Amino acid sequence: MRIYAHRGASKLAPENTLKAFNLAFEIGADGIEFDTYQHTDGIIVFHDRTLIRRTNTQGYLLSQPWDKLRMLDIGDGEQIPTLSETLNTIPRGKWCNIEIKHLVDVALWVNDVKTALAQSQVLEENVLVSSFNHHWLRDIAALWPEVKIGALSASYELDCTASARALCAYSVNIALDAVDKSFVERVLAEGFNVYVYTVDEPEDMRMLEKWGVTGIFTNVPDKALSVLHP
Ligand code: G3P
Ligand code: CA
Repeated sequence: MRIYAHRGASKLAPENTLKAFNLAFEIGADGIEFDTYQHTDGIIVFHDRTLIRRTNTQGYLLSQPWDKLRMLDIGDGEQIPTLSETLNTIPRGKWCNIEIKHLVDVALWVNDVKTALAQSQVLEENVLVSSFNHHWLRDIAALWPEVKIGALSASYELDCTASARALCAYSVNIALDAVDKSFVERVLAEGFNVYVYTVDEPEDMRMLEKWGVTGIFTNVPDKALSVLHP
């Protein structure tokens, strides 16, 4: 079962920072998960729509020009990273999950991600693109059929592979609170992979591994490694 550091090693360093991503790979994680917004100046890595939780500053992330955002301290003196900087923390052969929180221009997004990838060590086959907005994923898949798509969902829907089928997805990425054994069995039986977020407790890690889950997103990759690969 692959271990992805959720927003990087986000218990040891500020989430979604280069420090958290570098630490994740130093610890030995298989990959990192991070959140992205399409800003007018390029793709940036941040979780919230607003700045308050991370910077104690009022306002919306996307209302600020990039040079102002770049000056903000998001913890331990870290700055908001770009997609390109983030991909450059990933060693060759390791994985990433680019979660899209905001997207306006799909063609520009695909072009920007491909350009950033080409300037990094990351292999296209190790990139998983996910979002709760499956319309964006459909449009990305149409322009970039080779990229792996993760149909992200917070619920166990009655037809739990409908979106994955429509998107020709690689995986269904499901919330820990919604997943059970039957979900995993159904999704795997239809040939999709299963990723679960956010898994920080050893008992849950062992349970999901037993069910055959492909990967987990965890805030504590150090703990996950000691539990799953003692
Ligand atoms: O991609 C899984 C998970 O990160 C989705 O929820 O709010 O942590 O971005 P959130
Ligand atoms: Ca996320």
